[in-house]
Amino acid sequence: MFQESVFLQNTDKAGGHQELRDWVQKIADFCQADQTYWCDGSDEEYNRFTKMLVEKGTFIPLDEKKWPNCFACFSDPSDVARVEDRTYICSRTKDDAGPTNNWVEPREMKTTLEGLLRGAMKGRTMYVIPYCMGPIGSPLSRLGVQLTDSEYVVVNMKIMTRMGAPALDMLGDSGDYVKCIHCLGAPLQPGQQDSKWPCNPTTKYIVHFPDDRYIVSYGSGYGGNALLGKKCFALRIASSMAKEQGWLAEHMLILGAESPEGEKTYIAAAFPSACGKTNFSMLIPPTEMNGWKITTVGDDIAWIRMGDDGRLYAINPEAGYFGVAPGTNSKTNANAMETIRKNTIFTNVAVTPDGDIWWEGMSKTPPANLIDWTGKPWDPASGKPAAHPNSRFTAPAYQNPVIDPDWESPQGVPIGAFIFGGRRSTAVPLVYQSFNWNFGVYLAATMGSETTAAAFGEVGKVRRDPFAMLPFMGYHMADYFNHWLQFGRKLPNAPRIFSVNWFRKDENGNFTWPGFGQNMRVLKWIIDRVKGRAAAVESPIGWMPRYEDMDWTGLDFSKEDFQRSCRSTARPGKKR
Ligand code: GTP
Ligand code: SPV
Ligand code: MN
Repeated sequence: MFQESVFLQNTDKAGGHQELRDWVQKIADFCQADQTYWCDGSDEEYNRFTKMLVEKGTFIPLDEKKWPNCFACFSDPSDVARVEDRTYICSRTKDDAGPTNNWVEPREMKTTLEGLLRGAMKGRTMYVIPYCMGPIGSPLSRLGVQLTDSEYVVVNMKIMTRMGAPALDMLGDSGDYVKCIHCLGAPLQPGQQDSKWPCNPTTKYIVHFPDDRYIVSYGSGYGGNALLGKKCFALRIASSMAKEQGWLAEHMLILGAESPEGEKTYIAAAFPSACGKTNFSMLIPPTEMNGWKITTVGDDIAWIRMGDDGRLYAINPEAGYFGVAPGTNSKTNANAMETIRKNTIFTNVAVTPDGDIWWEGMSKTPPANLIDWTGKPWDPASGKPAAHPNSRFTAPAYQNPVIDPDWESPQGVPIGAFIFGGRRSTAVPLVYQSFNWNFGVYLAATMGSETTAAAFGEVGKVRRDPFAMLPFMGYHMADYFNHWLQFGRKLPNAPRIFSVNWFRKDENGNFTWPGFGQNMRVLKWIIDRVKGRAAAVESPIGWMPRYEDMDWTGLDFSKEDFQRSCRSTARPGKKR
């Protein structure tokens, strides 16, 4: 077993924030953690933790040549995705949480959680993770402190956020922060052997108290359930802060698009979970589209506010990507493949005995002797996937070869347009532009998408997912719509709003649109519309491109193909 000595109490790293120290002590006592460790966020510390996770059997070190400093791990089969039915917004009143959220009266929920948390870290170390969402020192950034008894969470938070000493410095002696408690719900009796993926297989709670800016997560160690800076803070709590303070916290990627003439436009796009944000944010344009270049600011979350010049500015609050593995390969997303080449954690992918990894869609032929995500030899004839459909990589954003030079700009990047998209095999056309801001809000508010493996439950069923925020709203959805409407009224020249759908299918179940890099053609039309350069026709739902309004250079895509991806309520209208 690993040496306890490296985990001696290090309250010297706790800094001078007395209220924080008191809270940490209180929770450590309540949860009866064996010891408390303050994370400094250093690379040295990260290496110490990955080593410990290897010794515990949680991490499998990958081949050092192929995958330098990379690790794979398998979660408990009960713990593979976000648990939306166990996620609560405990505002003061049920009405404040609105019809789309689970709600329990806050005091009642606190009593429940106290019952679960009492003594729940017995036999474990409680780690203190001070972290910053957004670039260190940016006026748009916000601080959090996560307490957790999971080493897996510590190393993932190191990649996904700016964590440790710099965040503690920013906090100072009295700074504000969002309190986050994360507990696996798997205390250890003296001498009890730990499991490789500790969690509570039967009881899970992901709870938000927006009025107290407080988060408690119990029972799960996976992704958005456990890395509390991401969905819990940067979307649910932040959306409620944003409503109060007049800004927006959105489930959006941010990309920069540079035209062959060197003109740069930043776009923010909201797609539901596992619907292509990571791909779109690092898209590689087809070579025939001579000279268009895409750079990434963020792949999942955008914090947006109005600048003094009346334009909207966005930052990516995260520092890493927690991206969907299946479907990622050197053709669909070469930039992601390059990003994850080193210093990356792979969760629930398949592994080979010699330290290689694989997932569905990584290559045509899987390597021999695969171990599937449940840790058993994989039988290709079984019909079961080798990697879990929601298997993910955790990789540092700075490793992205097309990271935008301004991705850490403290004031953010100016947003030229918003795009909303879902996974719809029928009905919704490839692209259209809403007539104005209010129509755009309607478009976003009414959008639907087929469910994916990113959340526990049935996959492939169309559900309404307003603004791709259904699972991430921190308050009443109708108040959020109104916040967007009011927000738009203040903007002298509001960004144009578009809808896209890469996922239309034909009668044989094949995608009608090639997608991935080819999405650049749609993006070009969008940017040209924003700049007043592209033509469109009016339809009842908005402006749509005709076949001849888009750039098809180098792609064999006929007018009929285009019609199959666009056919909808469009009808001949006046040219603009
Ligand atoms: P979250 O991290 O869950 O919020 O998801 P995301 O929106 O970042 O999803 P991601 O980009 O990781 O895409 C998930 C899946 O969609 C992968 O399997 C991709 O291969 C697939 N995908 C992405 N872009 C396209 C596209 O243009 N066309 C098609 N058909 N599939 C796509
Ligand atoms: C999503 O589900 O939208 C994600 C992955 O980005 S998770 O962080 O697990 O929520
Ligand atoms: Mn997401």
